[in-house]
Amino acid sequence: MEIVIAGGHGQIALRLSRLLAGRGDTVVSLVRNPDHAADVRATGATPVVRDLEAASAGEVAGDLAGADAVVFAAGAGPGSGAARKDTVDRAASVLLADAAERAGVRGFVQVSAMGAGEPPAPGRDDVWAAYIRAKGEAEDDLRARGGLDWLILRPGRLTDDPGTGLVTLAEPPIGHGAVTRDDVAAVIVALLDALPDARHRTLDLLNGGTRIADAVAALR
Ligand SMILES: NC(=O)c1ccc[n+]([C@@H]2O[C@H](COP(=O)([O-])OP(=O)(O)OC[C@H]3O[C@@H](n4cnc5c(N)ncnc54)[C@H](OP(=O)(O)O)[C@@H]3O)[C@@H](O)[C@H]2O)c1
Repeated sequence: MEIVIAGGHGQIALRLSRLLAGRGDTVVSLVRNPDHAADVRATGATPVVRDLEAASAGEVAGDLAGADAVVFAAGAGPGSGAARKDTVDRAASVLLADAAERAGVRGFVQVSAMGAGEPPAPGRDDVWAAYIRAKGEAEDDLRARGGLDWLILRPGRLTDDPGTGLVTLAEPPIGHGAVTRDDVAAVIVALLDALPDARHRTLDLLNGGTRIADAVAALR
């Protein structure tokens, strides 16, 4: 397969790239910072410098030409304010989806977040509210697109603990908790393999008691 990862220097993205390239898939990683190219290359991917807050859909469509699927793994990140939740977590996902449709790339896995689109819990700040609103609007945009075999993956709290291979993966609600970035990356690989059969699902993800292969097989 040929997979394009948007936000290719992210912590999940680098793990995902290692898994895909390690089994022989072709990976193109879109990064905004040219200094990140070497890290991306070290995973086996080909870096393309593309700032998703500045690019046009036509430019990104050119990056996607010939790919089988794209993964939106970008995010404004923990240090960012409400404005960049909108320009990255929402608008860059919409841009990538527009570009995928233009390029004729049907597979689209979006890394969203548990709670996306829901009202913020009491006590959460404005930036959190902007974040889950942006993620929710990005999800809604995908659900409205008939031309994509989309899958929305909504991990719980991410950790850098070693992967377990064991998850709970199902339509919400599945409760609350954490999941390792290693396991998120492994689930994305399995979901890419399950497209188009498993398409058009919104899936919450936590560490749990089911082998990843079995959890994804149950979606088909
Ligand atoms: N943290 C959590 O507990 C949690 C829980 C559920 C879901 N999530 C979501 O999971 C996703 C991936 O998480 P992660 O930990 O892998 O995130 P991460 O390490 O913060 O990676 C996000 C990547 O997006 C890139 N990016 C930001 N703006 C960009 C732009 N304009 N153009 C291109 N790339 C851009 C960043 O590049 P730069 O390095 O250049 O900024 C970074 O490499 C995020 O969407 C996050 O919101 C997080």
